Amino acid sequence: MTEFAILKNIQPQPELVREDIKKDPGFGQYFTDHMAHIRYTNEDGWQAHQVKPYGPLVLDPAAAVFHYAQEIFEGLKAYRHADGSVWTFRPERNATRINRSAERLALPQISEEDFINSLKALVSTDEAWVPTPGTDGDESSLYLRPFMIASERFLGVRASHEVDYYVIASPAGPYFAGGIKPVSIWLSKRLNRAGSGGTGFAKCGGNYASSLLAQKEAADNGCQQVLFTDAEEHKYIDELGGMNLMLVTKDGQLLTPALSDTILDGVTRRSLLDLAPELGLEPVERQLTIDEWREGAASGDIVEAFACGTAAVITPISKLVSDDFTIDHGDTPGEKTMALRKALLDIQYGRVEDTHNWLVRL
Ligand code: COI
Repeated sequence: MTEFAILKNIQPQPELVREDIKKDPGFGQYFTDHMAHIRYTNEDGWQAHQVKPYGPLVLDPAAAVFHYAQEIFEGLKAYRHADGSVWTFRPERNATRINRSAERLALPQISEEDFINSLKALVSTDEAWVPTPGTDGDESSLYLRPFMIASERFLGVRASHEVDYYVIASPAGPYFAGGIKPVSIWLSKRLNRAGSGGTGFAKCGGNYASSLLAQKEAADNGCQQVLFTDAEEHKYIDELGGMNLMLVTKDGQLLTPALSDTILDGVTRRSLLDLAPELGLEPVERQLTIDEWREGAASGDIVEAFACGTAAVITPISKLVSDDFTIDHGDTPGEKTMALRKALLDIQYGRVEDTHNWLVRL
């Protein structure tokens, strides 16, 4: 096993500041004292495994990432259990996914061992930054953001021969400012996120960049998130700007769009499908149309909708809004939505037995 050298930050943030931040961190606004780093070159592979002080990166202005967006990332969380121990959730799935993303973006593969050890090395160094959740519904955690960038200084368009991998960490509360208050979603009809054969399934910055204008359109229309459909017919539901979408039917089906090359294979999405039978729900992955959601909601066959992802956990959806119709599920979180949310959080925070062996100690 390759050990990470630990270079301690000699000026960590004062304990009082850290404890204050942890009380109400919001999402993605504060960062811990260290970051993990591994350097890759075509000649030497991955080397120089380190945890070092968090701080700005020095990159050449000609580094490929700035020009051709050769970049990928991941998102997962560290959870503090009641006994003080710190755990993460299904990290091997993130390791597999970062390598699928890496393949699509012509970046090097990273071993599952290096990926998981980078999380362990960083979280054990910055353990004091992992929040302690208060109540059962509290979703405070340390959000972990591994990412890989093309750092070779070169303006030709080809895969970079030099790459840097980092992990940074950020104490986090709910992704949406309202917590579990249901959010409204804007249906993007003009702007697409991803097309067939493209990078939609990969977790790369470009997908999120292409969602930003539509996300702005959503905000301009009073919505907190945007929903994308397939780029060809604008008929099939794909995913939200930064999370997957699920619907619950009156007769107990948990519906979500089947994976395709335009949909991210979310770890929360997969876990909810796995948990569904334990809550009396039948998981169904298939193509879903906007029309069937609209008709199902009107007839009472589709009774709940929610967003799911590592950052969003499970956030109920009140409305889907477009310029010519609205689907309204009301402002009260759905019963099955909340049951799934509780089941997932109970496992992640160690409040029930981890019968699926999903937790890994950091
Ligand atoms: C995550 O859920 O981890 C993501 O990367 C999505 C992003 C909207 C924060």
